[in-house]
Amino acid sequence: MWKGRFQSDTAELLKKYSESISFDWRLYRHDIAGSIAHSKALAEAGLLTADEQQKIESGLTEIGGEIARGEFSFNRDLEDIHMNIESALTERIGAAGAKLHTARSRNDQVALDLRLYLREETDAMTNLVRDLQRALVALGEKFAHVIIPGYTHLQRAQPVFFAHHLLAYVEMLQRDAERLADARKRIDVMPLGSGAIAGSTINLNRELVANLLDFPALTQNSMDAVSDRDFACELLAAIAIMGMHLSRLSEDVILWASSEFKFITIGDAFTTGSSLMPQKKNPDVAELTRGKTGRLYGNLLSLLTTMKGLPMTYNRDLQEDKEPVFDSVDTIKAALEVVAAMFGEIEVNVPRAADAVSDSMLLATDLADYLVKRDVPFRHAHEIIGKLVAHCVEAGISFPELNLANFQIFSPQFGSDVFDLFDVRKAMNARQAIGAPSEKNVAAQLQRWREILSR
Ligand code: ARG
Repeated sequence: MWKGRFQSDTAELLKKYSESISFDWRLYRHDIAGSIAHSKALAEAGLLTADEQQKIESGLTEIGGEIARGEFSFNRDLEDIHMNIESALTERIGAAGAKLHTARSRNDQVALDLRLYLREETDAMTNLVRDLQRALVALGEKFAHVIIPGYTHLQRAQPVFFAHHLLAYVEMLQRDAERLADARKRIDVMPLGSGAIAGSTINLNRELVANLLDFPALTQNSMDAVSDRDFACELLAAIAIMGMHLSRLSEDVILWASSEFKFITIGDAFTTGSSLMPQKKNPDVAELTRGKTGRLYGNLLSLLTTMKGLPMTYNRDLQEDKEPVFDSVDTIKAALEVVAAMFGEIEVNVPRAADAVSDSMLLATDLADYLVKRDVPFRHAHEIIGKLVAHCVEAGISFPELNLANFQIFSPQFGSDVFDLFDVRKAMNARQAIGAPSEKNVAAQLQRWREILSR
């Protein structure tokens, strides 16, 4: 493609080192869509006849079909997807093909392709996030009556509805979807026409190209446009955060599925056995998802580091953007899909949850609140209940096993109604503030999400 200036061929070693066709072939649809739009702008400017534009468009469409069917043979010597397609086009249609690259550089071309690709993938990821949210809401609804211990420091803390715990992840995923939507705004800007760095002396109608490709805005600085990858960094950051959420969810699944917790069982189709230990049923989906978070973070760091210290404008370093971007998109999509499917196969071990939540220590804070309602300052109440807890732990008994006289040794404020506190369902219903897990609140939240996610 640059034979005019050079006397000898590129070294084999360099060809192998610099090719990107082995991974950027995936941009073919976007490259072709961009080229068709560009050819229309060239035709509008009188640089292509209608017939030439038509030949280009049908030639590109034909090439796209062949690539889609796996019938196209890529040539590593042509480096990347842009040159592979252009060269195949010129081979097929001759002179018209050689006009396609007028007023365009691979620098603005690749920026366009990446934006088109990421815009599409952002929409796909958003749909998968919603599917996972739906799976969590469905499981929450199925076991809406189940209460489990909630944990802080992985120590039993206070009772919560199982659905409330799942809905915490629905909230996280909603923020993830918002981050995707926000990143999409900055992806959705059309760079073509920026040329290699300084536009072109041949002025094309950039608005036409943007309209054809459904971009609401144009880049406003040609130098920025060819070297900006902020939009990809942002998306990788959003994906990394999403991965962190999936990893935390996975960790909860792993804990809940362990023999120590036994709160859930995961369907056979989404667990694996051990080649050695016949009793094992392993939560591999959750473990792999937790593990893959490492590469999502790595990909973000990789791109940020590639970008750091790049002088203006395009530098070949930028070719290193693609593999981390593709890997993060592929990884998070696969994770979202398989985790959602796994949640469709999770059953709650209801007796086991009931047993765990019958631990009256979970209601120690409620006991302190009881005293507060009888005018004991909270710090004082906390200390009284602390002593009561120590007494019970030492005696190996639970709160309901004490009688009123026992309670009153610790505080004269205790009345016979203290025993009402040990009904965990009543205890849940006392938690009525916005965001707290009373049965009514949790049911309303399930309903709210059901509605949001049905849109
Ligand atoms: N394969 C290149 C990339 O991915 C395309 C742009 C090449 N531009 C250039 N001036 N060599 O960044």
